[in-house]
Amino acid sequence: MKIRVVNGPNLALLGTREPDVYGHETLADILGAVTRRAAAQQVAIETFQSDVEGDLVRDIGQSRGAADGLIVNAGAYTHTSIAIRDAIAASGLPCVEVHLSNVHARESFRHHSFMADVCVGQIMGFGGYGYQLALDGLIWHLRGRKAGAAV
Ligand code: DQA
Repeated sequence: MKIRVVNGPNLALLGTREPDVYGHETLADILGAVTRRAAAQQVAIETFQSDVEGDLVRDIGQSRGAADGLIVNAGAYTHTSIAIRDAIAASGLPCVEVHLSNVHARESFRHHSFMADVCVGQIMGFGGYGYQLALDGLIWHLRGRKAGAAV
């Protein structure tokens, strides 16, 4: 099983970016922890990060047939990008939307997600650990939504 973890704009800055909001972990820290957790369940992780909307659209679109599922933190594009939403839908892959912060406890312009309804579910508010929760949820989904299928 292969899962692609896609991160959008400004997430390469994690570690130094607004640590009060996003914590002190770098993206490499977060992805390393996800990769180790996945390996323990015989799942391979591939990662992609870009600040460019079109690159994210292309990468997600090309995941069809190359991965079994997606974990996507589209950053600010979550709230603006119909193109990323369409790419997720076009991929045909189950996708979990993840945010480090609880976007509903923040500015109102962060409350709407264009991708939420083409995703299996959302995880937010748990910092970098949310990526591990998203992984467990996606594995559970991919393994037939049965109790004990992940962790
Ligand atoms: C974010 C939340 C977005 O509103 C913001 O633009 C980000 C990060 C998060 O992970 O909490 O860049 O996706």
